[in-house]
Amino acid sequence: MSNDIERILFTEEQIQARIREVASAIEERYAGKEIKLIGVLKGSVFFLTALARALSLPVKLDFLAISSFSSKSGLPGVVRIAKDLDEPIEGEDVLLVEDIVDTGFTTRYLLQNLAGRNPNSIAICTLLDRTTQRIAAVPVEFRCFEIDDRFIIGFGLDYKQLYRNLGYLAVMKP
Ligand code: IMP
Ligand code: MG
Repeated sequence: MSNDIERILFTEEQIQARIREVASAIEERYAGKEIKLIGVLKGSVFFLTALARALSLPVKLDFLAISSFSSKSGLPGVVRIAKDLDEPIEGEDVLLVEDIVDTGFTTRYLLQNLAGRNPNSIAICTLLDRTTQRIAAVPVEFRCFEIDDRFIIGFGLDYKQLYRNLGYLAVMKP
């Protein structure tokens, strides 16, 4: 285990079990429909693929990438789409899949941007939800885990682009 890891928060087994539960809730909500999962590169890729594998509904995938400037850079909540979706989402039932909703700025921007493309419906599904840091209110319909203020790595979440490939979620050393 890396020196940067303080402790494991959720094991691979716990994550997979929770993803199956969330997938069941999604299947119930979208019964008889086809859904489009939209992943935000790169953090949500590991969660999105695991979720897609757990769903028995017909699923389409698309991805976008963003550049965001954290409050540390002095520009809170400035988000820009660096790579857009490949396909339109008009008339589709869309699930925006996130690694983590923290302040909510990124998710709120994406939600507004995507809602403007006339999908039939749009909802947020996130692996992690840190509600204590929320500044921009966003409706999180599906979430796997609520977490506190500690910095998390693994299962797609990075520290300086590293640790995304960890199979578990871990708390980083301060
Ligand atoms: P928001 O706009 O503040 O909600 O920012 C969400 C983004 O911040 C995520 O997509 C992550 O890239 C990053 N982030 C926030 N908290 C963490 C964390 O604990 N670990 C890794 N990345 C994080
Ligand atoms: Mg990141």
